[in-house]
Amino acid sequence: MIKRIGVLTSGGDAPGMNAAIRSVARYGVHHKLEVIGIFRGYAGLINEDLRPLDHRSVSGIINRGGTILETARCDEFLAEEGQRKAVETLKRNKIDALVVIGGDGTYRGAIQLWERWHIPCVGVPATIDNDLNGTDIAIGADTAINTALEATDKIRDTATSMERIFVVEVMGRDSGFIAIHVALAGGAEEVLVPELSYDLEEMCHDIVEGNRKGKISWIIIVAEGAAKAEKVAEKITEMTGLETRVVVLGHIQRGGNPTARDRILAARLGAAAVDLILNDEFGKAVGVQDGEINAVDLHLAVEEKETVVEPFYRLIRILT
Ligand code: F6P
Repeated sequence: MIKRIGVLTSGGDAPGMNAAIRSVARYGVHHKLEVIGIFRGYAGLINEDLRPLDHRSVSGIINRGGTILETARCDEFLAEEGQRKAVETLKRNKIDALVVIGGDGTYRGAIQLWERWHIPCVGVPATIDNDLNGTDIAIGADTAINTALEATDKIRDTATSMERIFVVEVMGRDSGFIAIHVALAGGAEEVLVPELSYDLEEMCHDIVEGNRKGKISWIIIVAEGAAKAEKVAEKITEMTGLETRVVVLGHIQRGGNPTARDRILAARLGAAAVDLILNDEFGKAVGVQDGEINAVDLHLAVEEKETVVEPFYRLIRILT
């Protein structure tokens, strides 16, 4: 019988993690569970950095970016010794099950705990890269798109005013999710994503052609996993003779107040994770598909996700 659960956030923070922590804590308390917050992800399990969470300790966080539990990428947990220490902490503190909130590294940690050490775990998807299976969208991705879009809109103002070509690099190590959405929503002229091959020479040809017809400014969105914006800009200048500017949006995409969509998603998924635990369903991750809450095996969740980029790319090219 599960009486006490732990909750942690791990890997890259994502806006909406706090709303998910709040949901796990309050939904858990509502169901008569004790809820323990674990600080700095798996590192907090290894170092026994824990604090009980009650209804009030998660007040006033639903609107805040980042994570009150803090987060880390913990190399020590990859080794058996680190995992052993983590398990000892869980046993010593009588934590019967764990909710892990994060991306694919976080889920891989939970797979280890569940399959190797028999610690009941469930996952809540939270990553701006939106590269987990079993959910149409992960917590944080919507906010990240909107943050990058707002910045891109501002860049367009100066690009148009000064007749310049801007190359804007957005996050996404192996995923073009942010790039393709920002490009479509921001009316970008071109987008480079890791999922699709691209031809810089052809792009430069289009720029010269457009320039000849009087097109005065360009916004080119580049996912960090596809190319380095600096290199793309150098190539454009070299091949077209036109002036370029580079903006790397970087970690601003990870911060900020979560959007309504992310908060609602986090509230639903946090509660759904507790429901899984109450139903003794472990080794799974919650998600939302076609509007409905569901759960998939953690192994399936971390398999390579097929982000739908091609139809969006075609539309961007037609509308540009
Ligand atoms: O959390 C995902 C992500 O933001 C990726 O888009 C990016 O490549 C990576 O994390 C950056 O990680 P870090 O903050 O550890 O440099």
